[in-house]
Amino acid sequence: MKEQLDALRQAAAEQIAQAADSAALDAVRVAILGKKGGLTAILKQMGGLPAEERPVVGQLANEVRTELEALLHERGEQLKAGETAKRLASEALDITMPGQVRPLGHKHSLSIVLDEVKEIFLGMGFSVATGPEVENDYYNFTALNIPEGHTARDEQDTFYTTDGLVLRSATSPVQVRYMERHEPPIRIIAPGRVYRQDTLDATHSPVFHQIEGLVVDEGITMGHLKSTLDQLAKGLFGESTRTRLRPHYFPFTEPSAEVDVSCFRCGGAGCPFCKGEGWVEILGAGMVHPNVLRAGGIDPEKYSGFAFGVGLDRLTLTRFRIDDIRLLFENDLRFLGQF
Ligand code: PHE
Repeated sequence: MKEQLDALRQAAAEQIAQAADSAALDAVRVAILGKKGGLTAILKQMGGLPAEERPVVGQLANEVRTELEALLHERGEQLKAGETAKRLASEALDITMPGQVRPLGHKHSLSIVLDEVKEIFLGMGFSVATGPEVENDYYNFTALNIPEGHTARDEQDTFYTTDGLVLRSATSPVQVRYMERHEPPIRIIAPGRVYRQDTLDATHSPVFHQIEGLVVDEGITMGHLKSTLDQLAKGLFGESTRTRLRPHYFPFTEPSAEVDVSCFRCGGAGCPFCKGEGWVEILGAGMVHPNVLRAGGIDPEKYSGFAFGVGLDRLTLTRFRIDDIRLLFENDLRFLGQF
């Protein structure tokens, strides 16, 4: 049996050394140490040995087992290392290869400024509302206290469709649409496109953008309007910016005001941009006219409100020092790519 064990040891050692991969090595392991393997077969004969020889053969068999297990382990590690190296080599990336540049799209300058305005108002608890760009006469004029024959209805200014509709000439119609469906307290801004029969030039476009603001609640005063616009001006043009209200007239607000901000280029000292004034006009505003509240189904005895309308294009031009409004609409990538 000693010879058998020795022969097994030698043959097994050779097979282990020759196993070409982990799977082959596993097969060798089973053939030697498995239940039906060579070593087990030899050990089964132990019972036939004289009692005094059993411990000697038993010890030898254990040595052979230990030795072969060590060889199996060692070869196993070798094969595994080789296989890992191969896999890594096959998965290798050549990081020196030239990459593919995919240019990222980005926001339009109008969207950048609109997002800033939204951020400022969302921070004050406003939400964002919208309304249709194709309006009817009622919401665009009548509900806004603009009577028949008023110059604002002039066909020279407004785009009329053939079936009595208009392209809205301001975002103000959203005021009434919103009031009809919501109870006070109301705090909204309503950004969107508006249309007027202006000839396209550096400072005019027949389509442009406004952001309407509307607040309605009990006890709303001009003071709330002023402080809200202060927040807007500071948020857009910096903390030191001041606002001032100048008396004006709009049919849908009473009293009405035009609102200036201290010039954000010269700080109010006067410069070519503000034409030496120190102030730049940015919006129209006022206390919502009782007739407009009524049109919205809101009792002017109980509630009051303020509204404003700011030109987004104008804000964007001044903000980025762009000198021609047409650039905002021509979609020239060389221009758009600068923001
Ligand atoms: N609708 C006015 C305009 O287009 C702006 C405005 C809105 C004024 C709301 C007062 C209140 O000029």
